[in-house]
Amino acid sequence: MASLETLIQAEITENGPLTLDRYMELALLHPEFGYYQKQQAIGSKGDFITAPEISQMFGELIGLWCVDTWTKLGSPNQFALVEMGPGRGILMEDIIRMTSRIPEFQQAAQIHLVEASNRLQNLQKERLAAPHITWHKEFPNLDKDLPVIVIGNEFLDALPVKQFKFSNGDWREVAITLHDSELRYTHISSSANNLSEEGEEGEEDQIQEYSPAADAFIQMLGNHIKLAGGAALFIDYGPAEETAGDSFQAIKDHKYSDPLIAPGTADLTAHVQFGRLQSIAVKSGCASPAIEGQGRFLERLGIEARVMQLSRQANEAQQKDIAAAHKRLVSDEGMGTLFKAFAFSSKLNAPLAGFGEIA
Ligand SMILES: C[S@@+](CC[C@H](N)C(=O)[O-])C[C@H]1O[C@@H](n2cnc3c(N)ncnc32)[C@H](O)[C@@H]1O
Repeated sequence: MASLETLIQAEITENGPLTLDRYMELALLHPEFGYYQKQQAIGSKGDFITAPEISQMFGELIGLWCVDTWTKLGSPNQFALVEMGPGRGILMEDIIRMTSRIPEFQQAAQIHLVEASNRLQNLQKERLAAPHITWHKEFPNLDKDLPVIVIGNEFLDALPVKQFKFSNGDWREVAITLHDSELRYTHISSSANNLSEEGEEGEEDQIQEYSPAADAFIQMLGNHIKLAGGAALFIDYGPAEETAGDSFQAIKDHKYSDPLIAPGTADLTAHVQFGRLQSIAVKSGCASPAIEGQGRFLERLGIEARVMQLSRQANEAQQKDIAAAHKRLVSDEGMGTLFKAFAFSSKLNAPLAGFGEIA
């Protein structure tokens, strides 16, 4: 019976080792066997749980951020609200509910959901019955003068990464090959390492990692936002400063697993290199405030007030759930510091909400 593993084995036999980014792309997005075609990837019953799935407060505050940003763009009477990788559609559902109190915002917003997985697109269509939503597999071709607000939660970490290893005086690219019909890591010569200068030495076994897809996406978005006006907000995990090292990982049933076993059955991710992506956005002409921890970001947007408001209408068990969700979203032991908020924008008449100074 065909499986992603047999397809990958056939591709290696025919063309030689697969680079890590190609392996990750197939494992996550293969149209038939890719991980995101799988039932129940996200949520408490799935392999991992994301912030919008933890509490409605997350989406409501992101909704507020969008309204605030729209105001700072001069309240345009038409703009594109784009969500990248909406998963089960919960974040957008919470944003739509929260912003229903601001009809001018809702009337101005053309909602675009960019989702590569057919299965998840169908789930989103069932959940979100609003008339002015359009779905895309890739970032849509928007008018060059239409302001845009782009959001993405745990989208960037799903974009494939390349890795390079320094060994025996040379940087070589990490790839996947076959050994006795099992998938194994190998290292191949490559010209794709743009992390080190030509001839620059590393330490023996040092690993460097970056996502060409994330670089290209932020570059494209930075150029678009600079031209059309707008802002982008991405929340994800990774270090604020650019760092070296291997962060490629597989998650299955809320635990780490071996990324090379049964491809397509575990979520494959890597830490987002926020510092690197921020420099790309700034070089494209956008302004970007200092990258902020998710906890501090949500606190600045008023999560405590929302906790109190929701708790007043809740019974005792619900109050406990609200308090637990609050803690998980903002505390250092939870998602508060590992997860970061990263934003950039065209020139606005006031700083973006939730952040401190411009970096
Ligand atoms: C980790 S999930 C996050 C889902 C959701 N944002 C949440 O917070 O629950 C990653 C999402 O990005 C989508 N995705 C991954 N790679 C993509 C790509 N290249 N283009 C569009 N969507 C992609 C996945 O199908 C999935 O919906």
